[in-house]
Parts: sequence; structure tokens; C-alpha cells
Amino acid sequence: MATAINAKQLKELMDSEKGVLILDIRASSAYEKWHIEGKHAITMNLQHIKVKELGSAVIDLIPRDQTVVAVCEKGIVANQTASILENLGYDVVYLSGGMQEWSDFYETIAVYCNDSIQLYQIIRPAKGCLSYLIVSGNEAVVVDPSRHIGIYQDLATKLNVSIRHVIDTHLHADHISGGRALADVSGAEYWIPEEEMKGSLREYSSLKDRRIFCFGNGNLELISIKTPGHTISSMCLLLDGAFLLSGDTLFVNGIGRPDLKGRAEEMSGILFQTVTKILNPLKDELMILPGHFSRISEINGHGFIGESFAHIKHKTDLLNVQNKKEFICSILSRLGETPPNFDLITKINQGKYEANPNEQIELEIGPNLCSVESK
Ligand SMILES: [Fe+2]
Repeated sequence: MATAINAKQLKELMDSEKGVLILDIRASSAYEKWHIEGKHAITMNLQHIKVKELGSAVIDLIPRDQTVVAVCEKGIVANQTASILENLGYDVVYLSGGMQEWSDFYETIAVYCNDSIQLYQIIRPAKGCLSYLIVSGNEAVVVDPSRHIGIYQDLATKLNVSIRHVIDTHLHADHISGGRALADVSGAEYWIPEEEMKGSLREYSSLKDRRIFCFGNGNLELISIKTPGHTISSMCLLLDGAFLLSGDTLFVNGIGRPDLKGRAEEMSGILFQTVTKILNPLKDELMILPGHFSRISEINGHGFIGESFAHIKHKTDLLNVQNKKEFICSILSRLGETPPNFDLITKINQGKYEANPNEQIELEIGPNLCSVESK
């Protein structure tokens, strides 16, 4: 029987200088779509049946100089693969809950802390989802929470603060929001743009342009800025004039795709207005903190995903296009595969469809596909 590790232990192995070899035994189509990435991880795709067939000849394919972590969908078959390799003398373990467990793993990083403000980024590496908890005094605001709301409750408890506001920057299409549920259990107010909740049965407060949020000891400023394009009423949140929680409008390596609700050309034009009239005039020193990331290399030296606006502008060609037609053509030519299940996820986030826990897991499996990347 091989040894099991959990997702946290896997993350630690991937962060350690020693590194790790991840042996993903799923079908190559599943692997190509989505697999684990880590700072010091090499990934290899070889199915269990192949490992079994090869027997000791597998030594020619899988190096033995590193710890091997076998990974499958749910951790059942990977256990058997790890046992085979263990008998061949490998230093091998397997991820106990497989890709399902990895999909639900989170890490919290302090982005900025001083006497009056604490800003945390909550990273969900498998989905590339980022959410935030901002503290002032004994109160907090949570932005774009995922459905595993215990993460935010535990963090608030640890920091000894109560959650006063929960904000969704827009109606998410790639993951199930925990916004309404977190607000319910925390006694907080839940905010989301009204235009995106038409027909919704959920209770919410309408998030409008230039809404100022008051909380805690009142010495920090959190303001919403309407930045339509990715969705019709997408918002960014400007914190103390120094940080822009940019939702899915602006990423460190691209901008939010405007086509998920159809009308790709029209929405690209709206996004152009947002880029040229609202985003580009913002100051260069702003720290941009997005709602998603696409690859592990986007994590900066401090361990979080965020860069100065100047740096992002410098490397993102789409932020430098001056001509609307050219901008629209560039966007339309780069649109990739749409996020799987985005229509149903949108309905769940509007409260129009109730998914059971297993369905929620299935619906969320896979990477986020929210951006149009820079060239
Ligand atoms: Fe989005």
C-alpha cells in the first residue's frame, strides 16, 4: 500500500527546492485540458495501464532521482500506480483525493499589512481563482469568494474580525460564487451589479459605479469603478488609491474576455472604451490584483499574483491599441475555448439553479478560461 499525501503537502513539495515529479495517470485528453502546475514540479502523463504493462521497463521512462506523486481523478487508481512504482524502488506517494482534491485547495497570502489595513489574497491554484479579504479595525470585506466559504470564515476568525460586506465584482461564469452563502452565514451585506442579476431569485444589494464602502475604523477607502466589457457591468474596486482589485477586467497577462454572453463584437467595443477611458488614465503605480491567473509563472516573488499597472501596460499589447476596430479584431482573433459549463454556472450564481455538491464539483473541474492574453 503506497503512502497518500494531501493537497497541502503536494503544494509544499512543489514549492521546495528539491522539486517533485507529478505522474498524472489520467487520459491524455484530460491531461492536455488541465493538469497540476507547480514552481518546482515536472509533470508527466502516463496512464496506469501503460505503467502496468511496462513493468520494470517503466524505469526507462520515469526517472527515479525525484519524489514521484501519482495523480488521478479521485486518488483511487493512483494508489495502485504508486504501489507498482514503490515495488520498483521509487520514492513515490499519491495524491489522496486526486484532481478533485486539488481543485478545492486554497492558499492565503498577505499582500499588504500595516496599522490601518490588512489585505489578503486567497489563491485557488487549480482553478486560477483569486479572492480577497480586506481588514480595517475589527471588520472585513470579502471580494469574489469561491464556494468553499469556510476558507473566509476561518480567516476572519483567525484575524478576529467580522465580515461586513461580501462583493462579487461581476456574475462569474467559470466558478460557483460563495458570495451569497458567505454573506448569509456572516450576517454581511452581499453586493453584485444589478444588471447581471436580472430575474435572479437571490437577495442582493445593487453594486453601482463609485459606491464607497465604509467598514472597520473608517480610515481606508474602498470604491467601486464600473469597467464594463468582460460582462456588462463588471466592476473593479479601488482600495486606498493604491490597489486595484480588478476582477476579470484586467489580469497580469491580459484582459477579460468579452464574449461569454454572446455579442462578442459589441462587447469588445465596450471593453475598448473601458480600456482607453477608464483603465489607461489610472496611475502607473497602482498594484493590480486580478480575479484570476492563468499560469504559475504569474506568481510574483512575494508569493501573490499582482503587478504594477505600469508593468502590465508595458507588456499587454491590448492596452496599447489606439484604434477601436483594430482592438476588436485583435480580441476576436484570440478568443479561445469557452469555459466548460459557463451557462449553468451563471444560472447557479444567479440563484436560478441549485446544484448538489457532487454536481458542483463536476461543473467546476478544469482551468479558468476567462482571459484574452497579451501577445
Ligand atoms: Fe469572469
